[in-house]
Amino acid sequence: MSVLEQKKIILGICGSIAAYKTAHLTRLLVKAQAEVKILMTPAAQQFITPLTLSTLAKNPVLSSVQSEEGWNNHVELGLWADAMVIAPITATTLAKLAHGICDNIITAVYLSARCPVFFAPAMDVDMWLHPATQSNVNLLQYYGNHLIPVGYGELASGLIGEGRMAEPEVIVQQLNEFFQQKYQFEGKKILVTAGPTYEAIDPVRFIGNRSSGKMGVYLAEALAARGAMVELILGPSPLQVQHPNIKLTRIEGAEQMFQAAISLFPNVDAAIMAAAVADYRPKFVSAQKIKKANHEMTIELERTPDIAAALGKIKTEHQVLIGFALETNNELENAQSKLMRKNFDMIVLNSLQDEGAGFHVDTNKITLIYKNGETKAFELKSKKIVALDIIQALHLLMNEKK
Ligand code: C5P
Repeated sequence: MSVLEQKKIILGICGSIAAYKTAHLTRLLVKAQAEVKILMTPAAQQFITPLTLSTLAKNPVLSSVQSEEGWNNHVELGLWADAMVIAPITATTLAKLAHGICDNIITAVYLSARCPVFFAPAMDVDMWLHPATQSNVNLLQYYGNHLIPVGYGELASGLIGEGRMAEPEVIVQQLNEFFQQKYQFEGKKILVTAGPTYEAIDPVRFIGNRSSGKMGVYLAEALAARGAMVELILGPSPLQVQHPNIKLTRIEGAEQMFQAAISLFPNVDAAIMAAAVADYRPKFVSAQKIKKANHEMTIELERTPDIAAALGKIKTEHQVLIGFALETNNELENAQSKLMRKNFDMIVLNSLQDEGAGFHVDTNKITLIYKNGETKAFELKSKKIVALDIIQALHLLMNEKK
């Protein structure tokens, strides 16, 4: 069965010679049993007729917000679709979408759409490489849209270079991969711990750390977006989490995180321990605010429970357990010994010595270390993309345990 079966797809076509390829693209989508509705800019109709496309799509083609039948509801269309594909997209439409300009049916539906949007540019090499175009492409990606990269080769102008629209097969392939990934974790339950813990000294003070919770929250969101039911245990972090697939348990201290994790773990398929749990807590917590005095003060500390190690002990052969190691020296060695000690299947190493990795930043540079000693190092990336790398590795580990 095709993952595109019954998927509602809007195909937006702009005025470029590459528009001739959209007949084939429409045919491929219909063959994959997607339901296709086509929008065209007026310029696109100079390159390919609406009659050709409506016949292939088995649906009327819209080329204006208003038509003989009346007003075409772009909001309804935007909400109807499971995906919107704009192919080819011209330099002009790229610019319009990047800046929120709404003056035709494609731009209107784009602004109303809540579904993922894919765009496949087509233009001459110099137009494509122009900083204005590149900056619009970056903006559109920054807004969460998916670029279908241009190809290299002969262009309509006779020049050779980058700027060809991706072949219809490549566009369909990218859609296929997107929808496949969307359901990658369907039916799976995954526990994620995230954020710092605060260990109370008195009702006012605590011992904490600089963790923002970002890495764990991005992991939870990425898993939820791919169909997993996520149990997120989050320490004190200003981050807000809202996804119907994420069940949030807010905790303060390591002991609370431990209790929550131990009770949730037996019912999940995998757990990712991304929390920066305090290793020590004050042995005695004062019920009242401690008053200052004219002498020094010592706080006696005791160990907190090691949550990850406790889960490692009760882990079944079907469960996957992933930990993090934030190291400042002897990174690989320390991470490897942690992996064995806590019975992880994989550990994500990040070093505070790497610029761009650590607490305050939105980027991270990781190395994945497996039980068999295998390692995989990644470039510096945004934490959101790092989360995707980690869950791809998790997916493979879960498949191995099936
Ligand atoms: O020993 P260390 O704190 O460096 O180990 C890091 C890994 O162990 C992380 O995955 C962290 O979430 C987990 N951990 C835990 N409970 C603790 C300490 C660490 O779950 N008390």
